[in-house]
Amino acid sequence: MSDGTPHWSRTSRFRIPRAVYIPVTLHLVSSPIALQLPGVTTTTLLASAAALGLLAAACTRAATGAPDLASTPSSVSLRPPLTPSDTRMERFVDSVLAGLTLEEKLGQLTQNVLSAAVTGPQLPEASAADIRAGRIGSFLGTSGAEVTRNLQRVAMEQSRAKIPLLFAYDVIHGFRTIFPTPLAEAASWDPAAVERGARVAAAEGAANGLHWTFAPMVDIARDPRWGRIVEGSGEDPYLGSVMAAARVRGFQGADSTTGVAHKFRDTLTLIATAKHFVAYGAAEGGRDYNVADVPPRTLREIYLPPFHAAANAGAGSVMASFNELDGVPMHANRDLIDGVLRREWGWDGILVSDYTGVMELLNHGAAADSAEAARISIDAGVDVDMVSTFFLKKLPAEVGAGRVPIAVIDSAVRRVLRAKYERGLFQDPYRYSSVARERALTLAPAFVREARDMARRSIVLLKNEGGVLPLRKNLGAIAVIGPLADDSASALGAWAGAGRPQDVVTPLAGIRQAVGAGGRVLYARGAPADTADSSGFAEAVRVAREADAVVLVIGEREDMSGEAHSRASLDLPGVQSELARAVYAAARAAGKPMVVVLMNGRPLSVPWLADNVPAIVEAWHLGVQTGPALADVIFGDFNPGGKLPVSFPRTVGQVPTYYNHKNTGRPPVEGIRWNSKYIDVPWTPLWPFGHGLSYTTFAYGPPRISKTEIQPTDSLTVSVDVTNSGTLDGDEVVQVYVRDDAASVTRPVKMLKGFRRVTLRAGERRTLTFTLRPQDLAFYDIRMRHVVEPGTFTVWAAGSSVGGQPVRFRVVGATTELPDRGPLPLGWRP
Ligand code: BGC
Repeated sequence: MSDGTPHWSRTSRFRIPRAVYIPVTLHLVSSPIALQLPGVTTTTLLASAAALGLLAAACTRAATGAPDLASTPSSVSLRPPLTPSDTRMERFVDSVLAGLTLEEKLGQLTQNVLSAAVTGPQLPEASAADIRAGRIGSFLGTSGAEVTRNLQRVAMEQSRAKIPLLFAYDVIHGFRTIFPTPLAEAASWDPAAVERGARVAAAEGAANGLHWTFAPMVDIARDPRWGRIVEGSGEDPYLGSVMAAARVRGFQGADSTTGVAHKFRDTLTLIATAKHFVAYGAAEGGRDYNVADVPPRTLREIYLPPFHAAANAGAGSVMASFNELDGVPMHANRDLIDGVLRREWGWDGILVSDYTGVMELLNHGAAADSAEAARISIDAGVDVDMVSTFFLKKLPAEVGAGRVPIAVIDSAVRRVLRAKYERGLFQDPYRYSSVARERALTLAPAFVREARDMARRSIVLLKNEGGVLPLRKNLGAIAVIGPLADDSASALGAWAGAGRPQDVVTPLAGIRQAVGAGGRVLYARGAPADTADSSGFAEAVRVAREADAVVLVIGEREDMSGEAHSRASLDLPGVQSELARAVYAAARAAGKPMVVVLMNGRPLSVPWLADNVPAIVEAWHLGVQTGPALADVIFGDFNPGGKLPVSFPRTVGQVPTYYNHKNTGRPPVEGIRWNSKYIDVPWTPLWPFGHGLSYTTFAYGPPRISKTEIQPTDSLTVSVDVTNSGTLDGDEVVQVYVRDDAASVTRPVKMLKGFRRVTLRAGERRTLTFTLRPQDLAFYDIRMRHVVEPGTFTVWAAGSSVGGQPVRFRVVGATTELPDRGPLPLGWRP
C-alpha cells in the first residue's frame, strides 16, 4: 500500500532542493471580487467562520447542547449531551458500522501516505486498489481539490461500503500562505492573532481538499537542541496552553457562546490535532525521538496542561508521540491515552498514531511482533494507524483469537465515522474539493495581509542600545548582508506545508520595497549559512563600509530545525560568527549603525553579539511576508512588541535553562561560591523568558491584590498600572507570575499565570486586572492530589519573567483538593 517512499515529504518539509524549484503558476487573486463565492467572503471568513450559513446549524447545536462545563466532574465526558442531531448521527454511524466487514472496519482505522507529488488527476493504482477494497480510511500528505475529488470518487463509486475518505496534512503554520513558525507566533503573546492565523491556514487547507491537520504541536520544550522546538510554543505550560487553545479554535472555528471549538461541517475549517501526546519535547539530550524521563508531577504540571487545554477547547484529534515515558512507549501507553486523556479528561476524539509509531513498538522492544504491536496499541487507545498497516494486517487474527474484543475496534471506527459525518462527508463527499474555492482562497490577498501582520507581531526586539532602531528610510545607503538576507526557503521555516519559496518576500526584497526607488540598498551574502567558506567576507566588509547603516541577517536555515533536526550546538552555524565580527569591525570603524537580524528555529547562544552589537532583532522564520514585516519593524512603521516564549541560553552547556525552575537548597548568589551555578559562565540566561523591548518604554506600578487573605477555593484579582513612558505608541505584554512560597513539595521560583498584550499610546496609563483562580494556585502534592495548600504566595506583574515588584497574599484554612479541569478557565477565549 505504501508507495515505497520512506516518508512522504521529507524534502518539502525540511528542505526543498534549492536547484530544482519549479516555477508554478500561482493562484493569486488580485481582486477582492474574486473572493465573493457564495457564502465565502474574506470578510466573513476572517471576522467569524460562524457567520457562514453552513455553520448556523452547528452553532445552534453547540449553543444549546453544550454541557455545563463548570459543574462537570473531571471524570465525566466533556462531550455535549446528545441532542436530536447527535442522536441522528449516532444512529447513522451505528448503521454504517453494522454493515462493515472486519477488514473494512480496520480499513477505516488505516491511514496511508499518498505522495505529495500527486497533484493531478492521475492516481497511483495501488492506492486506488486499496480504496476500492475498503482498506483505507484516510490519506496523509496529498492535497488539491481535483486530486481529492478523484480519490473520493473511487471510494464513493467503486468501493463496496462507500465511505468517504478523510484527507489529512501537516498544515502547521499555514498551508500555502505560510505564517511565522509556531515558536515565532508564540512570541507574539497574542492569542487572538494566532487564532486568526490558524483560521486562515484552515480555510486555505480546506479549500485545497483537506479535512484534517496534524497541528497544533503543543509540546513543551525546555531544551533548544531539540529541533522541533520550532513547532511549539516554547517552554511554558501556561503560554503553551493559551496558544494550544487559540490554535484549536482557529483551525476548527469556535462557538462564540461556549468558547469550545466547532467540530461541525463547514468547509473552511479543519479537524485540529494536538500533538504529540506526551512529553515528546522532553527528549533526552534534545535528540529527537529519544526517551523522555519525566517524573509524574512534572508530567502533570508541565507537559500535560497544553493537551488538557486543547482537549477542553474541543480538539477533534490527538496524536500519540514517538517517545517512551518511563519505559512505556506512548503508542502503548494505556494509562495516559485511555486513562488520562479519555477517562479523566473526557476527551473523545480520534487518537492517531504518529507515522510508523505502531510499528516502532518493535524497535522500542515493547512488542515481540507486529501482531502484539497492533494489539497493545489499539488496546492503549490508538484509533488510527498511520502508515504501519499493522492494524489492517494483524488485528483480524487478534480479533479471531479473542485477544482483541470487537467492541474495541468498533469504538475506534465510530470515532472515525463521526468525524466524517461531522465534516458533512456522508452528505456530500466532494464538498471540500471545489476548484473554484481553491483558486479563490489559495494565497488570497487578505490571507497574505494577515500573514504580514502576524509576522510583525512575532518579532522580538532583543537589544536596542542608543536607540539605533528604528532606522530612517532616507538615511542613505543601507547594506543588507548575510546568508539569510535573501534566502526565501529559510524564511518559510520548517514544516512549511505547501509553501513555496517563490511566494516569499525576503528581508532584502522587503527592505528594498520599503525604501523605494529613491533608496539605495547594497547587498552581500558574506558567507553560506553552514560551511567554513569565508571567501565572501571581503565583499561584505566593503559593502558595510560603503553604506550608512548595516543590517546583518544571520542565523539558521529552515533545515536546521524541525523534525530529526536536533543540534548539539546552539552557536551560529558555519562561519557566521566570524562574519558578524568582520562586518561589525568595519561598521564600527566607519561609525555606522549596525543591526543584527536573527532568523532561527530555536534559541541561539550568541553572547558575543549580545555584548557588542547595539541592536538585535529576533525574527525567527516569519513566512511569506518576512521581508515586509521586518522592514516595518526596522524602519519603525510597526513598533515591535513580541516577547521571548523561551529562554536563550548563553551556551549549550547551560541547557536546560527555563525560568520556572526550582530554587534548590543553595540558590545562586553572585560572589558566593558554594551555591548552584557555574564557574565559567553566569547561571542566568542570555535573554530570559518573557523578554522583549519596544521603541517606547513602559513603567509598572506596584501590583495590587484584591484580598490579602483568601480561602483555598477563592479567587483574587491582581491589578497593575502600566504607563507608556516613552514618546511612541507601542505594545507591551503584561505578565503575571506567581510563586507558592512554601509547600509540601517544592514549587518553581515563579510560574506564569496570566498575560495580556496591550497597545498604549505615548503617555497613556492603563490599569490591567487579572484573576487568579484556585486552579492557578493548585499543584500535585506528594500523593498526587491536586491541592491548594495554605501559606503565602508572591505575585509579580512585569514585562518579563525577570524583575517586577512583588506583592504577597496568604491562603488560609485547610489543604483543599480540587479537580484538575485544565490550565485555562473552561470556555476560555482570547
Ligand atoms: C511527525 C508528525 C507528523 C507526521 C505526519 C511525523 O514524522 O512526527 O508530527 O504529523 O509525521 O507527517
